[in-house]
Amino acid sequence: MSMRAVVYDKPFTVTVREVEKPKILHPDDVIVKVTTTCICGSDLHMYEGRTAAQAGIVFGHENMGIIEELGEGVTLLRKGDRVVMPFNVACGRCANCEQGKSAFCTVVNPGFYVCSAYGYVSMGPYPGGQAEYVRVPFADFNALKLPPGTEHEEDFALLADIFPTGWHGVELSGFRPGESVAVFGAGPVGLMAAYSALLRGASEVYVVDRVPERLAKAKEIGCVPIDFGAGDPVDAILKLRDGKEVDRGVDAVGYQAVAQSGVEQPNAVLESLIRVVRPTGGLGIPGLYVPSDPGAPDAASGKGYISFPFGKLFEKGLSLGTGQCNVKAYNRHLRDLIIAGRAKPSFVVSHNLPLDAAADAYDKFDKRIDGYTKVLLHP
Ligand SMILES: NC(=O)c1ccc[n+]([C@@H]2O[C@H](COP(=O)([O-])OP(=O)(O)OC[C@H]3O[C@@H](n4cnc5c(N)ncnc54)[C@H](O)[C@@H]3O)[C@@H](O)[C@H]2O)c1
Ligand SMILES: [Zn+2]
Ligand SMILES: [Zn+2]
Repeated sequence: MSMRAVVYDKPFTVTVREVEKPKILHPDDVIVKVTTTCICGSDLHMYEGRTAAQAGIVFGHENMGIIEELGEGVTLLRKGDRVVMPFNVACGRCANCEQGKSAFCTVVNPGFYVCSAYGYVSMGPYPGGQAEYVRVPFADFNALKLPPGTEHEEDFALLADIFPTGWHGVELSGFRPGESVAVFGAGPVGLMAAYSALLRGASEVYVVDRVPERLAKAKEIGCVPIDFGAGDPVDAILKLRDGKEVDRGVDAVGYQAVAQSGVEQPNAVLESLIRVVRPTGGLGIPGLYVPSDPGAPDAASGKGYISFPFGKLFEKGLSLGTGQCNVKAYNRHLRDLIIAGRAKPSFVVSHNLPLDAAADAYDKFDKRIDGYTKVLLHP
């Protein structure tokens, strides 16, 4: 049996073509018929050839759909259940999973230290869900049940990654209600971090980017947009605050950060965060940094050595948290906020497209043009 899927060919080229349909390989597996799967900024690192991703990999780690087939060991789920999967695959039983650190499951990615995901280079043998079907291992743990029907489809799809990841970015910063926050990056993750900060009672949220449509979305939800293309963003924030720094900062950009000129500068955001956050404040860094980057602008960052003013960080007594999001630690509660009508993260969605439109969607999302902010594909 075959199915259609988004396959990576070479840098800047993906094609939708026939691949083998997944089968149950273990009694704990389920097969999900995908109804919605999203393109993520993390996919772009592979798409641009900035990882070791090989041709033939099926992309897609933000997946939801309907259970079509169940392994005989699955106990909590039924055929026909509507589910959304965290982008991380996790076993639910190892020491890290037990402590809610499901992004650092030690079981699911043999041969690597930690971290796994569907359809992602070096993250284990799990084909992506930008396809008609996806196999979900340890399904009782990894599939979160949703109310039946099609209501909130766009909101629930964002529970696979960016809503929990934005929330996690705020959590990592040590945020407390009433504090002020500066979020760097108004991509989907940055917008979700800003939105989470507001949901959690931030007094002020500044959002830095240079893409007009993205800054407009930040403004629409009640944040102060800062265009780093127009001048130094830290100076701009400090000016608006009479020189006072913010309590918390979130890096929702990662290693492909660019300077004001548009040239890549991997430490651009880290440097800004250290300047803009008050002494003893905190930095949350969900933006991705990698131990090796084949397209890095210099040899050191090619090996994941990013230079930043550690002396200033020490002098200010800043704390920082980083790493993949433990989606399982948040997705159930965030789902309930959506059901209760208290959260509507789908404001970030710009496009709903058929799977067959993936090649063009990748191209435009990668160029951050035509308002491509968050693309949902429907196989
Ligand atoms: N930790 C996790 O679990 C996790 C999960 C999902 C995504 N990520 C990572 O989060 C990052 C953001 O993801 P996304 O989907 O929003 O990506 P994206 O590429 O769509 O957005 C990044 C944004 O950062 C902006 N930017 C670039 N340089 C900047 C600078 N110096 N200052 C401010 N903004 C700048 C870009 O204009 C862009 O809008 C990526 O690195 C992604 O890999 C991490
Ligand atoms: Zn993602
Ligand atoms: Zn585990």
